[in-house]
Amino acid sequence: MPEFQTSPGMRDILPPESARWRRFVDVFAQVVEGAGYGQVISPLLEDLGVFQRIGDATDVVTKEMYDFVDKGGRHIALRPELTASVCRAFVQHRPATPWKVWYTGSQFRYEKPQRGRYRQFDQVGIEVLGADDPNLDVEIIALGWEFYRALGLQKVRLLLNSLGEPADRAAYVDALKAYFEANLDALSDESKITLQKNPLRVLDSKRPQDAALVAGAPKIAQFYSEGAAAHFAAVQAGLTSLGIPFTVDTKLVRGLDYYRHTTFEYQGLTLDSAQNALGGGGRYDGLVESLGGPATAGIGFALGLDRTLLACDDEGVFAPPATDVSVFVVDTTGGAEALAITTALRAVGVSADRAYENRSMKSQMKAADRSGAAYAVIIGSNEVEAGVAVVRPLRAERTVNPDGTDGDGTQSTVPRSDLIDHLKKAIS
Ligand code: HAM
Repeated sequence: MPEFQTSPGMRDILPPESARWRRFVDVFAQVVEGAGYGQVISPLLEDLGVFQRIGDATDVVTKEMYDFVDKGGRHIALRPELTASVCRAFVQHRPATPWKVWYTGSQFRYEKPQRGRYRQFDQVGIEVLGADDPNLDVEIIALGWEFYRALGLQKVRLLLNSLGEPADRAAYVDALKAYFEANLDALSDESKITLQKNPLRVLDSKRPQDAALVAGAPKIAQFYSEGAAAHFAAVQAGLTSLGIPFTVDTKLVRGLDYYRHTTFEYQGLTLDSAQNALGGGGRYDGLVESLGGPATAGIGFALGLDRTLLACDDEGVFAPPATDVSVFVVDTTGGAEALAITTALRAVGVSADRAYENRSMKSQMKAADRSGAAYAVIIGSNEVEAGVAVVRPLRAERTVNPDGTDGDGTQSTVPRSDLIDHLKKAIS
């Protein structure tokens, strides 16, 4: 075992998987930039206080934060999510509203690592600040849905809920608290502790002992104000009009404390229930204010890259893209020819690789095969003397002669002065 390895819950993403990660972000950018969202890039670190405003009743803030005091004595945390950072940036820069942004990057939470649950994980997400319109909720939920479709995922379920206005939510929390306290004996010990911190989260309990009690608990819908009920009805009508299927789940409270009105989650049906949230979000009117800004509506979502790729593997979609080069140059004269040819090919947009350390012809041809290149260019001292190069197709059934006509699939000898042009045509 090597002396050093990644620390628990952290992973190296190696090629070709890393190419899939980049494409994931590219596909996401294409979907959301098509809807007017611009990318925001914010620091990995913030003052601890930024994240404490997310709420003190959530494990993400109280138990899972990576925080430390820096050399200047500031109490700093690695970001556990990006919504609070985006709101902090909004308060700091005061951009015009509606401010529509997207982001990507790593988040850090000190969780118990398992498949689909890591201590460093990546998200893509969007946030909109300064618009309180149910049509926006629909747009946002639909963009997430469209993104999963763009990846090719089919086995995704959309869960929807509303937590009402702050006052509705507060009244509901009181009612839940009273209900669970009246039935304390039947509640699991774990849920008794949760009840003290955040009665809403008891609804999240997956323990069989709590199931009957949770099923019989008061429902949030009984507490909606007229405005909250109308907002929620409009969101549902909008989703229906777009043909996006959803399930209203009154137990969907989400793990962060800042939500008001609409909350939603995309579940991957192929994943274990403990890790099946591919992404989620909701409204968080009030978060900007709590960070010192003006009263500002906010809504967004974040989608977990790691988990969504597990779902892609389960469904056999969105495989790692091919990263093979087009041409591999085999040079048995010392390597200077390979340097010149690969440089010239790359300059005209043909990807090219080569071997190093003046290896034998056999070893270089093996490397050419491994590279996945369509063509090998072979240069020895005879070719240098004659001012030519040998072009050998490695995979193609069809080849191109130096005059541009179809070849018979075998190698050809091409004048050095025509080599780059010839390969460019053959590749295209
Ligand atoms: P979240 O539900 O905490 O929401 O995280 C969103 C997604 O990130 C999850 O659905 C999951 O796919 C992924 N995720 C979370 N924790 C882990 C982990 N330990 N390992 C792997 N993946 C994980 C938020 O972060 C909110 N900021 C979303 C939001 C944006 N709400 C409004 N705007």
